[in-house]
Parts: sequence; structure tokens; C-alpha cells
Amino acid sequence: MKAAVFDRYGPPERLSVTRVPIPEPKPGELRVRVRATTVTRTDTATLRAHPFFARAMTGWVRPRMHILGMDFAGEVDALGAGVTGYAVGDRVFGLLPDHFGGHAEFVCVGAQAAVAPIPDKIAFHEAVVGEGAWYASSTTDGLRSGQSCLIYGASGAIGTAAVQLAKAQGAEVTAVVGTRHLDLAARLGADRVVNYEAEDFTALGPTFDLVMDAVGHTSWFACRRLLKPGGVFSATDLGPFWSNILLGAVSRRVGTPYPNDAPGFVWRLAGMLGAGTFAGVFDRSYALEDIVEAFRYVETGQKTGIVTIRM
Ligand SMILES: NC(=O)c1ccc[n+]([C@@H]2O[C@H](COP(=O)([O-])OP(=O)(O)OC[C@H]3O[C@@H](n4cnc5c(N)ncnc54)[C@H](OP(=O)(O)O)[C@@H]3O)[C@@H](O)[C@H]2O)c1
Repeated sequence: MKAAVFDRYGPPERLSVTRVPIPEPKPGELRVRVRATTVTRTDTATLRAHPFFARAMTGWVRPRMHILGMDFAGEVDALGAGVTGYAVGDRVFGLLPDHFGGHAEFVCVGAQAAVAPIPDKIAFHEAVVGEGAWYASSTTDGLRSGQSCLIYGASGAIGTAAVQLAKAQGAEVTAVVGTRHLDLAARLGADRVVNYEAEDFTALGPTFDLVMDAVGHTSWFACRRLLKPGGVFSATDLGPFWSNILLGAVSRRVGTPYPNDAPGFVWRLAGMLGAGTFAGVFDRSYALEDIVEAFRYVETGQKTGIVTIRM
């Protein structure tokens, strides 16, 4: 099968699209013929081993895994021994948070892992929405109906998902985006949209139960005056001088998304996709052969929502 393979950490040019053996499903696993996947900031950060301590999970000197890609959507192609509930030909999507592997024509995934049927009417390329939404959910799931939140950077994969998930929780959402994304944020359901290029969002006043920095471009110090007493600041990135990690260690009011229960989340997302209460926001799409270009684009930090790869 064709796959985008790397065996050393570094820039996108470390990836090469080459032929590798098709994996055999182990007992309890599905083999999926991948039709669509994504290139995410998790993929680009893992390829570069950034931050350095991430190597504790992926290999200190050389990467333990050789194929990136956390999202997949495709058809079940073979069943390992003992699999029930799925048949060859079923359309499925999911997440590969532990071992990646989506940037390949085939991938094996446990039938009880983060995989679920794709709802009818949702195309393969519309189903690769898990990664950003999973990160976002670990912050937005703490919201209760009637609470207010501000999503800073509501135009990336995490931010576009965070707006929709926060609305689904019944929260009042203020989205902060740049000029080119004002319409998008309103379409996603934000109650109020603030243009960070024209307005100082930190002057909105202490009205929020949650402020989420979904793009790593602000800080607790800039945002703390936006919070009601007891309000929480959550950020996807380390923050200036790792402040989000350091403050998070001593205060419950600062946190970083730490998603868990990927299987449960993928099933929940399937329900939302089917019901039309969640939809991915898609930017460019690349062929697998052009995956180096896709990585370069994602690394610009300028994508809108999700970048997909067609297989
Ligand atoms: N380390 C990891 O494994 C990991 C994994 C996943 C995500 N993350 C972090 O999560 C963050 C979000 O990732 P993502 O994939 O959702 O999105 P992303 O690709 O980082 O989002 C880019 C979006 O942010 C907007 N943006 C750029 N500068 C901005 C600013 N100063 N203020 C507000 N918006 C700005 C861009 O539009 P405009 O420029 O037009 O505003 C663009 O639409 C990233 O910072 C990433 O580092 C880290």
C-alpha cells in the first residue's frame, strides 16, 4: 500500500510517499481502507518532535511510529478474529490517538477503539473531523447551559469545533477571529463575534465563565480580566515561558485540554454529525502524493478549520 512514511524527526521534507506492507488485522481489529484523512497541528508537531518532551511518548532519538495521521474515514476491508458489530464494506471513521497511521491506504484499528459508523449522507471527506473536536471537547464539556464562554482563535480546527460544541452545551458563545473569518464564526452559531484585528477583546469585561485560547496567541495574563470570579482559562498551547503549564500546576483556573475517552467521543460525534448539530469546517484538500505541501500549509498557522488528504 502507499503511505507517507518518516523515520527521523524534522521538517515536512522528512516525509516520503512510498510502498509498505498492508497491515494484517489482529484479533479484535478492523482493517479500514482509508478514503480520507487529515493533516493536523498534532501531526506537524509530532513530525518535528515539538515540544521536545513529546519524545517521551513518541521515541527519544527516533520516532517509534512511522506513519502519522490521527483522523481516518473509509470502508472496513477485513475483520480480525472475534470482531462483531462490523462487516466488510461498512463505512467508518475515527481517531488514532495512540499510534497514528491515517496517512496510509489501509489502517488497523480495534473494533472497540475510537471508531464508529459514518452517518448516512456524510461523505468520507466530511467525516474526518475528530482531532480538533476531541481537543475542544475536553474544555467545552465543562460548560453548563447558560454559562458564557469566549473562544479566542475560533477559526482553526479546535476553535471551529469549540464554538459548535459550546453551543451544544447550551453556552453563550463569543468568538474572537480575524476579519476574514467574521462570517464563518457567525455561521457556526456564535452569539457574538469580535474581530481581533479591529477591537481589543481583552476589554470586554469580566463576563465569562470560560476563556479558551484555541490558537496559542494569547495568555492568562491578557485574559484574566475577562473572567468572572471562579472563571477558567484554558489554552491549547504552552503559553509564554510555558506559563499555561506552570500556572495550571498551581491553579485550577488555568488548564490545557487533556482529552480522554476517544471511543466515547467518536460515537458522540457520529450522533452529532448525523443529527446535523456538528459539521467540520474544511480548508484545502491534497492528494496523498502532495502531503509534504499539506504539512507546509498547516505549519503556516493560517488554515481555516481542517486540511484533508484524499486517498
Ligand atoms: N502540540 C500539539 O500536539 C498540538 C496539537 C493540536 C493543536 N495544538 C495547538 O492548537 C492550536 C490550534 O490548532 P488548530 O489546528 O486548531 O488551528 P491553527 O491551524 O493553529 O489555526 C489557525 C487559525 O488561527 C487564526 N489565527 C492566526 N493568528 C491568530 C491570532 N493572533 N489570533 C486569533 N486567531 C489567529 C488563523 O486565521 P487568521 O490568521 O486569519 O486570524 C487560522 O484560521 C495551535 O496553536 C496548535 O499549536 C497543538
